[in-house]
Amino acid sequence: MIAPAQSEKDRVVIFDTTLRDGEQCPGATMTHEEKLEVAALLDEMGVDIIEAGFPIASEGDFAAVNEIAKRTKNAVVCGLARAAFNDIDRCAEAIKPAKRRRIHTFLSTSPVHMKYKLQKEPHQVYEMVIAQVTRARGHTDDVEWSSEDGTRTEHDFLCRCVEAAIKAGATTINIPDTVGYSTPEEYFGLIKMVRERVPNSDQARFSVHCHDDLGMAVANSLAGVRAGARQIECTINGIGERAGNAALEEVVMAMRVRNDAMPYWTGINAKMLTRASKLVAAVTSFPVQYNKAIVGRNAFAHESGIHQDGMLKHTQTYEIMLPEDVGVKQTSLVMGKHSGRHAFVHKLEELGYRLGDNQLEEAFVRFKALADRKKHVYDEDIEALVDEEIATAQDRIKLVSLSVIAGTRGPQRATMKLDIDGKSLLEECEGNGPVDAIFNCIKAMVPHEAVLELYQVHAVTEGTDAQAEVSVRLSEHGRAVTAKGADPDTLVASAKAYIAALNKLTARRSRGASDAIAVGERRIHSTDVG
Ligand code: KIV
Ligand code: ZN
Repeated sequence: MIAPAQSEKDRVVIFDTTLRDGEQCPGATMTHEEKLEVAALLDEMGVDIIEAGFPIASEGDFAAVNEIAKRTKNAVVCGLARAAFNDIDRCAEAIKPAKRRRIHTFLSTSPVHMKYKLQKEPHQVYEMVIAQVTRARGHTDDVEWSSEDGTRTEHDFLCRCVEAAIKAGATTINIPDTVGYSTPEEYFGLIKMVRERVPNSDQARFSVHCHDDLGMAVANSLAGVRAGARQIECTINGIGERAGNAALEEVVMAMRVRNDAMPYWTGINAKMLTRASKLVAAVTSFPVQYNKAIVGRNAFAHESGIHQDGMLKHTQTYEIMLPEDVGVKQTSLVMGKHSGRHAFVHKLEELGYRLGDNQLEEAFVRFKALADRKKHVYDEDIEALVDEEIATAQDRIKLVSLSVIAGTRGPQRATMKLDIDGKSLLEECEGNGPVDAIFNCIKAMVPHEAVLELYQVHAVTEGTDAQAEVSVRLSEHGRAVTAKGADPDTLVASAKAYIAALNKLTARRSRGASDAIAVGERRIHSTDVG
């Protein structure tokens, strides 16, 4: 691989918005602790700016941004704020403990947004830009201003707003493709045009923020860099509003692997990309597409005979980067029923887990039970098992046993035993299919109003003895929780996932009043910002 160019003018700053734009996408809500874990990993990985959340959106968002601000060692901690003084002030308060802090304030500038969303005239929007940036500058000297729906904004107006924002003190100017509408050529032209026409453009760093509605977010972001932008806003696994944002791992590796064509570099430790991808997938319950560039499980898998033959002769025949460069271990130690505790602990360490004695004991017992039923236990099996172990430690509802009668003759029937706060309950229900029968049993023992919004099954590993991983999303009073359950038996995995989601809802309910506030405010969060 060609060594990346290292001159300061070619350095592209990585602004990660997994915890803000990423968390905004339906179902990707993370708990407070999960957000802290993701932020710590981003910081360790070399992300320059962590957009930690939208502090005015809810008490929860504020608390997460505030805690991340306290804990982050290297990265700039950034919070998002609309063009309202109370938003900006709240954001400033949340990021205050950070060693380095940024306020990111945005306002729509396109005709359609100004007319229908803001219901304001361009001259009013122009004044608001000056006021919001000035307010933010009163709190910190690191201020980013974004022209929301920038790619559908009229050019003269965009240039005027950018000039005014810089004059008012913005140090970073972001031109988002909020609706993922642009093409690489068009976006290149837009960034170039703004940089050339705005007289004070040299006083700010330009940033790109592209959504993936047409699958061009990464290409557009790189085109923006070619036009002079030196900050890319992106998310791990490309999660984000609608079709998502530009994927961090893709932009970073594109510039590294094709440094001949894109001679830019970042401070990201690419060896941590796979770990980051796995963590974000686990905490959001958003599985990573198998063929996803860089971090998909097939990204370095070769199955066809011709490809395998080529790989055996020389890896460069079919691989343009080394798996270990992005943190994929080339040889995976296959675990099975003969593996002992030592190997299990070693494997956990390799996968980045550190468990307490009790959790380790439980996990080992469950690993042995799984290995008895399954020929090979893969890394993904162990991750699913341990993630579940961690999640169930404090659960109030626990699955004790389940048996199901299914098949063509119906009706399908489930018999289930649950342990709820230490009490044993037994129920038998019919259903329109075995999964329905199982969910009916759970509903009978744990009455609730939550609506099942998503039920998804996928195999954690290959083969008919693979562990099934089921994701379930339940929504209650406008807020959703997503949870996973894994087991070699798909029906048991389904029961575990549903129960895990109910446990999350129960935990949330017991947090009480502050949540009620979060419900209303969260809705503002997810509809107003792209
Ligand atoms: O997509 C978008 O325009 C945004 C802004 C808040 C930057 O997320
Ligand atoms: Zn966005």
